[in-house]
Amino acid sequence: IRDRRYVIGVDIGTSGTKTVLFDEKGNAVSSFLVEYPLYQPKIGWAEQDPEDWWNATYTSINSVIKQSGVNPADIKGIGLSGQMHGLVMLDKDGNVLRKSIIWCDQRTTAEADELTEKVGKERLVEITGNPALTGFTAAKILWVQKNEPELYAKTAKILLPKDYIRYKLTGEYATEVSDASGMQLMDIKNRCWSDEVLEKLNIDKNLLGKMYESCEVTGKVHQEAAKLTGLNEGTIVVGGAGDQAAGAVGNGIVKTGIVSSTIGTSGVVFAHMDNIQIDKEGRVHTLCHAVPGKWHVMGVTQGAGLSLKWYRDNFCHAEMDAADGMGVDPYYLMDKQAEKIAPGCEGLIYLPYLMGERSPHNDPNAKGVFFGLSAKHTKYDMLRAVMEGVSYSLNDCMSVIKEMGIDASEVRASGGGGKSKLWRQMQADMFGCDINTINVSEGPALGVALLAAVGAGIYSSVPEACEAAISVKDTMKPIQENVETYKNYFPVYQNIYKSLKPQFSAAADLNK
Ligand code: XUL
Repeated sequence: IRDRRYVIGVDIGTSGTKTVLFDEKGNAVSSFLVEYPLYQPKIGWAEQDPEDWWNATYTSINSVIKQSGVNPADIKGIGLSGQMHGLVMLDKDGNVLRKSIIWCDQRTTAEADELTEKVGKERLVEITGNPALTGFTAAKILWVQKNEPELYAKTAKILLPKDYIRYKLTGEYATEVSDASGMQLMDIKNRCWSDEVLEKLNIDKNLLGKMYESCEVTGKVHQEAAKLTGLNEGTIVVGGAGDQAAGAVGNGIVKTGIVSSTIGTSGVVFAHMDNIQIDKEGRVHTLCHAVPGKWHVMGVTQGAGLSLKWYRDNFCHAEMDAADGMGVDPYYLMDKQAEKIAPGCEGLIYLPYLMGERSPHNDPNAKGVFFGLSAKHTKYDMLRAVMEGVSYSLNDCMSVIKEMGIDASEVRASGGGGKSKLWRQMQADMFGCDINTINVSEGPALGVALLAAVGAGIYSSVPEACEAAISVKDTMKPIQENVETYKNYFPVYQNIYKSLKPQFSAAADLNK
């Protein structure tokens, strides 16, 4: 009998770090979550402390090993997934220089304009696959260059969140193609740093990590990290992936035709591409995939799960108390209420732009809106409208992807929001196709654990690893009547943003 082999996936998310230990077939053996704060010193700003990520990482690795009773020698590899785009700056001794400016921070409107100006609008899309985005790392670097020049002068390394964790585990300054694509400093066609972009932005290439494909071995756990984590010294750490590409691998989105729709804090529609394709208008992102030599396109809506959480925390205290008493999830009770409301909410429409919006508008000034309130509406209509608004925003992304000619014949729902039957039904009704769920729900942690399994030689390719671990479990079919209702409401949803765009910008000027 062959020895038992295990792999670990660590997902450094925005609300917490989740570590899962899997067997080689992708079955979760033990899992541990450590939460940490998000700092919002000003409206639109969002920062986190990289030390919190590291504490959460070693604590959770330690816990999953202890809980499982697995011999650390049987752990064949570690994969890292992380919130993308965050800027971590280190001095020459590897110390963190400032809190990380993370993905949803929107302070960089001026720097995004500067980026467009310096590289050229079309050239930027051509090289990096995306128009200048406030959320991506390049604009954040320009912000620090301009606003904190002394700190920038001390910077010896610039890393992404999960790549900082790699440094803490292995001592290596490295990154991989999927997450690095979201820095907006890469030539994504050739899967390497872009000298042209770096030169134009005056960023020294030596500040950046060494580039790998996602399933390549990037380093080994060193002695000090071994002590803290309980791992064996020398355990391999593979490239891993940005959380979206990682989640896609964990959903089996590693070939054309299958698309995922994920509702986490943000919402994402994600498709695999064998050949690179870029939306010239930049409405969706094209990035390198975690499958070697492949790409992906994704539409990102900023305030998906975030919208429902915001609604829960501000307006659903009664449901939260009741859920507490019944020992169920408050979202379950909220779903039961929202199910009673008819699709379309009698004209009440919600725009989920609580953190600005990325796809398809790329507008940091956009804000949340309830449109069409009447005296008849209740807080439950508003609740359903929030869920519908998030689904409309995902449909906005899906529409662009379909317009690019990308096959989306199978859609797989995932993320916390994917657990909601009602939310899945809404998506089936809006996309007009079946929505599948799969046998596993560990998403990004599973995705990078599978990458680690490939790096460790357990599987010969990423699709082979996915084939072994992932299968479809459940299918939700569209309800024709609802399809019609949403088809009528969707253009109204789209037009509300168009009408309000100048007002969003005027209001943003007042709050500068
Ligand atoms: C993707 C994105 C988010 C973050 C946080 O482009 O910004 O998904 O990675 O999860």
